[in-house]
Amino acid sequence: MTASRTTVVRGLATAVGIVSLVSVTGLATAAPGDPGKPRFTAGSEGVGDNYFPYSGNGGYDVSHYDLAIDYTPPAPSPAPLEGQLSGVATIDLTATADLDRFNLDLRGMTVSAMTVNGKRATGITPPAPGAEVDGAAYWQVQDDAERRWELTVQPRPKLKKGQSVRLVVTYGGTTTRPTDIEQAPYGWYTTRDGAIVVSEPDGSMTWYPVSDHPRDKATYSFRITVPEGKVAVANGLPDGPPVTANGRTTWSWDAVDEQASYLTTASVGDFEVLPVTYSASGVPIHDFVDRKISASRRATTNASLALQPRMIDFFESRFGPYPFSAFGSSVDNDSVGYALETQTRPVYSGSASQGTVAHELAHQWLGNAVSPKDWKHIWLNEGWATYATWLWNEENGIRTAQAAFDSWYAPARTPEYWALPIGDPGPMGLFATQVYDRGAGTLHALRLTVGDEAFFEGVQTWVQRYADSTATTADFQAVYEEVSGQDLDAFFQEWLATPAKPSLP
Ligand code: TRP
Ligand code: ZN
Repeated sequence: MTASRTTVVRGLATAVGIVSLVSVTGLATAAPGDPGKPRFTAGSEGVGDNYFPYSGNGGYDVSHYDLAIDYTPPAPSPAPLEGQLSGVATIDLTATADLDRFNLDLRGMTVSAMTVNGKRATGITPPAPGAEVDGAAYWQVQDDAERRWELTVQPRPKLKKGQSVRLVVTYGGTTTRPTDIEQAPYGWYTTRDGAIVVSEPDGSMTWYPVSDHPRDKATYSFRITVPEGKVAVANGLPDGPPVTANGRTTWSWDAVDEQASYLTTASVGDFEVLPVTYSASGVPIHDFVDRKISASRRATTNASLALQPRMIDFFESRFGPYPFSAFGSSVDNDSVGYALETQTRPVYSGSASQGTVAHELAHQWLGNAVSPKDWKHIWLNEGWATYATWLWNEENGIRTAQAAFDSWYAPARTPEYWALPIGDPGPMGLFATQVYDRGAGTLHALRLTVGDEAFFEGVQTWVQRYADSTATTADFQAVYEEVSGQDLDAFFQEWLATPAKPSLP
């Protein structure tokens, strides 16, 4: 749910009717494109992100995903590292155009049944481009080379703009170890004892049908059923205690804050459920740590997790009120080689260090509440989360932000290092080290340029203005020009777009 636009159209359509809507828009007579005259088209296969042209979809806006998932982890070694997943996804969406067809993203899972507003659709093989199909139908395309994984729905009757629809998709498959565009592990990543579920940037489609792009945020509810003894950890807060029947346990979660699809998780493992703690502002913190973690990793992890309440207090003082209704971590003994800021409940691999916990927590404001409108704006996520750990370290007498900046800026680095324009790093450069360090360096240089007062006022304005939504680097520049009264064109050009070492402000 992103577009207040749809709400407005629905509100107008019910409150004043279509005829009044025409006069509101100033049209004297019916014309092509008249909102009263449906012109049904296929919603696009992507939202228009040039890094991931088939991520997300056009023509509708999802408000809620309800995911009922039954999962069986792999059998003990030497059985293959494959799990069995079957799901029922109930998806509430609103058409933002008159739709003959529309798409969801779904990769490596097979749909076995679908209803649209309670009416059964028939699964068929993909028709030839432009071919007519009779009746309500759905089909799947799985094109690994093009990274085009689409589930097309042909609703009957067709959907009118502003109409709300409930889609029930029954699906499933064998889970493996998916990889992202640069071959890093992600998605529903099968482990021997369960799964690590971390899906940035487009891996949620490996475990449920989704409009897989931050521009379509939605709320979620989860019922994850696993063998008795396993724990399933998703976003938000537990929706009642786990329920066991016939050797299987269902873990229910409710995520009431809208979230970008890449921030969903439902990790499964042998987790210990830690006692709930709270920030000073009352945010409940639910932590889960793999029982099999070694004693030394467990000690590091416990020490880091114990700091979470104080870290929330500190970041609230810098970034404004914590943006969601819950927090907490899940720490898995298995590894994907990185942590992810999954909304309200970051996922850690192996162990959780203090710096990484600060980084993933800061993402809740910077990346999660405010998300990139296109993936090229990723520096706004990673630069801020990196800079937040500089601030945390400064607050705790570990190292000043200036010292952190100097230790990044001073050493000689290769021309290749400076060549990456972090404002548009390319799909293979999303998680390049420069996006993190030069991103944090950019923010420190911005702070030196506009002064502390404008710098911290700016970040609070940024979070407030774009919370539950997405924004761009241009939007960010506009906020800082507003709070500082300075023209920052040359500054951002040099720091984000120039393929050379930027000069000190
Ligand atoms: N966004 C993660 C973080 O910084 C990092 C991340 C996601 C990542 N996918 C990755 C890092 C792939 C390396 C490779 O917290
Ligand atoms: Zn990060």
